[in-house]
Formats: sequence, structure tokens, C-alpha cells
Amino acid sequence: MSRRAAITSVGHYVPPDVYDNHYFEEFLDTNDQWIRERTGIIERRFAKEGATSDLAVPAALACLERRGMDPSEVECIIVATVTPDMFFPSTACVLQRKIGASKAWGFDLSGACSAFLFALSTGAQFIETGAYKNVLVVGADKMSSIIDFTDRNTCILFGDGAGAVLLEPTDKEEGLLDFELHTDGSGEDALHMRGGGSLNPPTAETVENRMHYVFQDGRAVFKEAVMGMADVAESIMKKNNLESEDIRWLVPHQANLRIISATANRMGLDMDRVMINIDRYGNTTAGTLPICLSEWYEEGRLDPGDNLVLATFGAGFTWGAGWLRWSMK
Ligand code: UT7
Repeated sequence: MSRRAAITSVGHYVPPDVYDNHYFEEFLDTNDQWIRERTGIIERRFAKEGATSDLAVPAALACLERRGMDPSEVECIIVATVTPDMFFPSTACVLQRKIGASKAWGFDLSGACSAFLFALSTGAQFIETGAYKNVLVVGADKMSSIIDFTDRNTCILFGDGAGAVLLEPTDKEEGLLDFELHTDGSGEDALHMRGGGSLNPPTAETVENRMHYVFQDGRAVFKEAVMGMADVAESIMKKNNLESEDIRWLVPHQANLRIISATANRMGLDMDRVMINIDRYGNTTAGTLPICLSEWYEEGRLDPGDNLVLATFGAGFTWGAGWLRWSMK
């Protein structure tokens, strides 16, 4: 039997400050009812201070502590993020230093809302090939650092948070059993942050033109996301002969409750088999999937042998699905 990469620990962190939908009513033409009905979001967390690594650190430490692993034993760190502390060094380097993972190497992976699934699939290869004995995969984003609080189309959607999982080898038929990943660069116009990179280095003009913030054509992204996420989830099920009754949980990216329910519907799943935290955290970008996994584990809602389908869609466009068999007791 081949060597697989199993999730052997989880951890997450969301900042303490809660902002409900009424918060935005004070300075934007929006309201609680619109936000709830169109997105499923009731509240989100914003970090008042610190950087993305400050969200990642407590998530990573909780994950390692649960496993009883000293940070010095970590061999590789992958940080999935669209809001790195800075362009370089990578947030993986910052995290490595802050948690004292003295023997680990690491890198950041940029895949927007699909980044955690991309990072999980990447980390699993290091385990399956035998290159490393463990990989810490973190999804972390401080979206409040790049959202335009004058744009009602986007600022109500996002929140800050981080989740972490530890990958280790297993010779059982569990862990990440399959994945299907996609990119379509023609999606750039619909969802991007164009300022600050080598295309548009920061100038007074890029700041004035609000180019250092997320721009999203919500309707265009919605159309693609609702098809993309459902198609890829259905595809991974067909490829692996999975029927809806075989699946314990859908673990979807949390961008919009309507996109999530369309995906569940296509998979033949009732909503009581879907992990949802968009109501409490909004869209935490790379954080959505690992925060879900960590919360569900902590709440005792995951059992060894449970089949999970992870599904994502985000900027790029990027999207994908993973089939994960849970192994943690
Ligand atoms: O995670 C990365 C991937 N991202 C996604 O998957 C997000 C995909 N898109 C969406 O989730 C939805 O498109 C949104 C939630 C962003 C928007 O919902 P929608 O039902 O597509 O609304 P819309 O953009 O079509 O706008 C409908 C109306 C517009 O007004 P008019 O033009 O009809 O007069 C908007 O200006 O709603 C207006 N609107 C708002 N009204 C109150 C937009 N934002 C707001 C708001 N409050 N916050």
C-alpha cells in the first residue's frame, strides 16, 4: 500500500474583536438584512493590530501542542496567504522564527481562496515521497489589511483568521486520497489587487486610485464560483466512485452561503453535512478550510474514517477539490 499524508493535528485562531453587520451601517449604505440574505454573513473578526503571522502563530502553536510536538521538530512550513506580512521574507520565514521551528524550511503559497487546498496538496507530496516526516500547512489571512472600507461591495465580505494542520505519513488508506486543482488566469479582471507589485509599484497615484485594495466584480465571480466549485466537487466524487451517502462532510470555501448550498445540492448533501462558519467569520480567504477542520474536530464532529470533500474557488481564477479521509481520534 502506498504511503499517504494524514492530518495528525489541527489548530486555529481568530482575533477577539467581533464586528457585526450593523457596524458597517454606520458609514456605508448597507444593512444587516442585505448582508445576511446575499452572503450568509452575520459577523466577522478583524485584528486590531499585528500582521498575518500574528494570526498564524497561535494557530500553529495550538496545532503542534495538540500533537505534543515541539516546534523544533517541524521539518517544513507552508503558509497559504494573500496577505503576507511583507513581500519578503516570506511569512513562512517569519512564522518559523516566531514559533522557534529552528530546523524547518518553508515558503509561502499564493493561491488566494484556494491557497490552503493548493498548499495541502503540495505538502502531501513531500510526505508521500518520503522527503519529509512532517509538514505544517497554515492558511492565514489578515484581509482587513487589504479591504477598502469605503466599498460596500467588498468590505462586508471578509474577515481575519488562521488555521493550521500537521501532515504526517501513514500506511493506512487515509489522509489526502485525491485532489483536483485548476487555474484560469482569465479571471484576473474580476478579482484582483493590482497595486504594490512590479506591475504597479506603489506611488502616490496608486494609493489615490485605491489600487492597494481588493477589487471584485461580485456578480462575475459569483457566476464562475457557483459553477466551478460544484463542478470540481462533482468531478472528484465521480472519479473516486463516491456517492453522496459516502461523504460525511463537505468542507467548502466560505465566500457566500449561496455558493456553498449550490455545491452541496449538486453533491446531493443536506446542509447538516456541510461545514459552515461564514456566518461567524465571513470569508477568511486561505483560513476558511483549516479553521473549519479545527473547529469541527474540537467540537467532536469528526471521526476517524469520515470521508470529507474539500472544495474551493478564488481569485485567479483558482479552484479545486480534495478527498480527505479523516484519521484523528
Ligand atoms: O472568495 C473569493 C471568491 N469570491 C466569491 O466567491 C464572491 C462571489 N460573489 C458574491 O458572493 C456576490 O456576488 C456578492 C455577495 C459579492 C454580491 O451579491 P450579489 O447578489 O451578486 O449582488 P450584486 O453584486 O449583483 O449587487 C446587487 C445590488 C447592487 O445594486 P443595484 O446595482 O442592483 O442597484 C449592488 O450595488 O446590491 C448592491 N449592493 C449592496 N447593497 C447593500 C452591493 N453590495 C451591497 C451592500 N449592501 N453591502
